[in-house]
Amino acid sequence: MAAFPSFLILSALMASSAQQQGYYSITPGTSLNPRTNSSWLSPFGLYAFGFYKLNNGYAVGIFLAGIPEKTVVWTANRDDPLFPSTAVLLLTSDGRLILQQKDREDINIVNWGQSVASASMLDSGNFVLYDSSRRIAWQSFDHPTDTLLPKQRLSAGEEIFSSVSDTNPARGIFRLKMQGDGNLVQYPVETPDTAPYSYYASGTNGRGDNVSLNLDINGNLYLFNGSSVISNLSTGLYRTRTIYRMRIDVDGIVRLYYRSLDPQGKWTKQWSTTDDKCAPKGLCGLNGFCILMDEDVKCQCLPGFDHVNPSNRSSGCQRSLSMEGCEAKDQNVSYEIIPMDNTKWEDDNYAVLGGMTNDDCKKACLDDCNCEVALFSQSGNCRKQRLPLRYGRRSLSDSDVALVKVSKTTPSSTQGVLGNSVKKIRLDILIVSISLVALAALILAFTGIYVHRNYVGRYKKISKFGNVELIEDVGLREFTYEELVQATNEFKEVLGRGASATVYKGILSNNENVVVVKRLEKELEEGEKEFQTEMKVIGKTYHRNLVRLLGYCLEGSKWILVYEYMKNGTLADILFNPENRLYWEERIRIALDIARGILYLHEECETQIIHCDIKPQNILMDEHRCAKISDFGLAKLLKKDQTNTYTQIRGTRGYVAPEWHKKLPVTVKADVYSFGIVLLEIICGRKSVDWSLPEDEAILDEWVYKCLQEGETSKLVRDEDVDKRKFERMIKIGIWCIQDEPSLRPSMKKVLLMLEETVDIPVPPSPTSFLSTI
Ligand SMILES: *[C@@H]1O[C@H](CO)[C@@H](O)[C@H](O)[C@H]1NC(C)=O
Ligand SMILES: *[C@@H]1O[C@H](CO)[C@@H](O)[C@H](O)[C@H]1NC(C)=O
Ligand SMILES: *[C@@H]1O[C@H](CO)[C@@H](O)[C@H](O)[C@H]1NC(C)=O
Ligand SMILES: *[C@@H]1O[C@H](CO)[C@@H](O)[C@H](O)[C@H]1NC(C)=O
Ligand SMILES: *[C@@H]1O[C@H](CO)[C@@H](O)[C@H](O)[C@H]1NC(C)=O
Ligand SMILES: *[C@@H]1O[C@H](CO)[C@@H](O)[C@H](O)[C@H]1NC(C)=O
Repeated sequence: MAAFPSFLILSALMASSAQQQGYYSITPGTSLNPRTNSSWLSPFGLYAFGFYKLNNGYAVGIFLAGIPEKTVVWTANRDDPLFPSTAVLLLTSDGRLILQQKDREDINIVNWGQSVASASMLDSGNFVLYDSSRRIAWQSFDHPTDTLLPKQRLSAGEEIFSSVSDTNPARGIFRLKMQGDGNLVQYPVETPDTAPYSYYASGTNGRGDNVSLNLDINGNLYLFNGSSVISNLSTGLYRTRTIYRMRIDVDGIVRLYYRSLDPQGKWTKQWSTTDDKCAPKGLCGLNGFCILMDEDVKCQCLPGFDHVNPSNRSSGCQRSLSMEGCEAKDQNVSYEIIPMDNTKWEDDNYAVLGGMTNDDCKKACLDDCNCEVALFSQSGNCRKQRLPLRYGRRSLSDSDVALVKVSKTTPSSTQGVLGNSVKKIRLDILIVSISLVALAALILAFTGIYVHRNYVGRYKKISKFGNVELIEDVGLREFTYEELVQATNEFKEVLGRGASATVYKGILSNNENVVVVKRLEKELEEGEKEFQTEMKVIGKTYHRNLVRLLGYCLEGSKWILVYEYMKNGTLADILFNPENRLYWEERIRIALDIARGILYLHEECETQIIHCDIKPQNILMDEHRCAKISDFGLAKLLKKDQTNTYTQIRGTRGYVAPEWHKKLPVTVKADVYSFGIVLLEIICGRKSVDWSLPEDEAILDEWVYKCLQEGETSKLVRDEDVDKRKFERMIKIGIWCIQDEPSLRPSMKKVLLMLEETVDIPVPPSPTSFLSTI
């Protein structure tokens, strides 16, 4: 309705330039051909159905005719879409839409099977066939390719697939599935619908079997269960003369775009499933791993491997040198291990060895002829695997090492002499090894799927009964209650007391390590399984800016966590102690540490963790004054549903984002808010709320924004050594983080880039400005 007038204006604009007439109703017997009358327009000329140019031929589809740049939203026969210029598209009276080509059989674009009375290209972008009583017989909205338009719906059980490339609309390697369990999930193609393969999930599993993904004409993207909205994925800001489309892009990320109808407008991203371009699993193919270089992704190969097809990053990597298997042992080959640091791969091991060092792990793999690569994690686990490796990515925050077994290469002196013959042999070996790798991949894929079918059910089962692997697997120790009573000397030395837990100091009897013993006091809503699932999630995190969980104890109602001990106490102790001045550089370093830890929780660990309670009391300082975040991963345990029904607020006053109070869904952006407050505290060296100060200074964020606005940031500076420009930069970052509207807050990745001074920081709006306009 609101869109109607703008289409009218558009059609007026179009009328002069349009070669084609507008068609309300297309009757059987009507045909199109690419050369003379190539498409049917919608009444106001916004969309067209028909031929469009693709590479050296023509494809049939639906595209936007009302804007200059070609934007295809649907393609017929997408896996084999090219037709010659002599093709004819015909609507037959027996209910088919066919493509006739010389000397070739007709291709059915639509085969409804009963007679149709007419067809229409609608201004919504939907192409519809009607039966004689004008009921919809067939519509393109029910057969999406990679795009969803406003009013189009992805129903339970349906999925859309990315395209191979921008010039090839065939099914690519990523999919978005609206699952029957209510969860909207992204996976690579040809994987089971289980959590280990997913790279995005809306987290709405268990919300009924009729949940659908919907986009409306105002750009709101939401999940709907037939009677109510269960999750708002993106809220469209009110914009006039604007069109929207959501697409699973070639790179595997689902993005919602908007564009003004002005000819000089451009498509702009409103929302995406992730900002991390390395997140889509399988982007770099087998044996390849993904690296983010600034904002671009780059695929690299394991050492000793080359790209299968350098022009296609997803084709993966294969060994550049031969590597004989077990059978060839008598041929006297020797192997060495090349480490690949800071990488993370799919865990598809056939054996896990615990308590190892990097060197033990190397040796274990060298000694085992089945081992082609070992994944070593800092927790001391060594996972032996066969190739290929999948879903690899590298980031400096990841401390795992892939130890790749390769044959020792011929000394370089002999290579020159051998010259040609070596190359020939290499080619043979290459072919053999390619087929071996392919075979291995095939076998692995089959066994992988078989194993997963057997071990894990659907996605929802994973999250509910995540206890499919042993917790030992992640290097956590299970303590007995008795051990902890001893370690803490009957819970004598209390380090801290919170709403939901009491924290004690302890000394383990076996190695005399000092530990922190945290006893959860709250009545826990979930059962043991949930606890173990969370332990598994927390146990899998490993980052220098996170406090390490060492183990746990679960005996009846006694739920206890054991953490490493941090010598220097909490950030609050250091920050709010007047005798403990922090240098400017140290403040920045601490802020960076915290940001990196949160980024890891949000984007880099296997299961996304929203901390929900970032505050200086939860940030611990180790002996090098490196900041480490503690208490992460507990939000779920202490509250029923992380993204919805809140019975009470877990966060701490002064640090909690406004959406908590409004009972809106809480996302990673809630942590960004808390980080913003902590950042302001760090740079200003005071508490966020301090009633001992004059009234207008008491609330730090309000005071800071006021000073910034009035250009008097020097009022906030207490130390002399601060560079004013840098100080203002930090303030701007803080203000961006504490915007009331979550979508205006930057992602943690962006925050880190801002802190690292790699991107410019625009002047932030007032934190509450968004709310005051509605
Ligand atoms: C398109 O042109 C062909 C021949 O050039 C004609 O047979 C057909 O009816 C035309 N279709 C429309 C919709 O005008
Ligand atoms: C949809 O969700 C609402 C709120 O969560 C719930 O009350 C309602 O029963 C659900 N409807 C269906 C059909 O599942
Ligand atoms: C499922 O949801 C759709 C809308 O999302 C609704 O039209 C349909 O009636 C629902 N079906 C059932 C069985 O509730
Ligand atoms: C989604 O947004 C609408 C309007 O913006 C709001 O009324 C509704 O409560 C939201 N639903 C959820 C589940 O957050
Ligand atoms: C790249 O390789 C992958 C895997 O072999 C394949 O599925 C995909 O279609 C290829 N992409 C292009 C653009 O050829
Ligand atoms: C294997 O190599 C070692 C030295 O590298 C040599 O002594 C031994 O004879 C070789 N064995 C075979 C079967 O070639």
